[in-house]
Amino acid sequence: MTKDAVTLSVNGSQREIASDTRQLLVDVLREDLDLKATHVGCLSGDCGACSVLVDGEVRKSCLNLAVSMQGADIRTLDGWADNVLARLQAAFISTNAFQCGFCTSGMLMAAYDLLRRNPRPDTLEIRKAISGNLCRCTGYEPIIRAIQQAIDE
Ligand code: FES
Ligand code: FES
Repeated sequence: MTKDAVTLSVNGSQREIASDTRQLLVDVLREDLDLKATHVGCLSGDCGACSVLVDGEVRKSCLNLAVSMQGADIRTLDGWADNVLARLQAAFISTNAFQCGFCTSGMLMAAYDLLRRNPRPDTLEIRKAISGNLCRCTGYEPIIRAIQQAIDE
């Protein structure tokens, strides 16, 4: 299988990868670039565990081919945090908004995307923002509380 060279920015660093046409973005992030914060769940777009930011918008990295990412700005949870993300992370910890933690990076990406677009969302907007992310442990209420706490701080 021939591979295409793809240049992209990942968490602020320019990276060049060699990707075959079928390779998923999530696999490049986790396996080729060793960035493990992004999780693999369903691989069908349903669980949101693989959510990352692509050019500032939340996307499910299991639904995107790496070769389509030429020139893109990708953000995962690995190795950076601006003020908004740091507030969210601190709020998730202080409100116990996770148990197994499998969904957490995807939830944080979805919440971050929301707060960047709308710094003061109401509860319904929070629920909609995380509606593409499944959590089997918390019942969602602690996650919503954490996001509300990050908004209020
Ligand atoms: Fe991508 Fe579930 S692994 S949505
Ligand atoms: Fe376990 Fe959300 S904390 S799936």
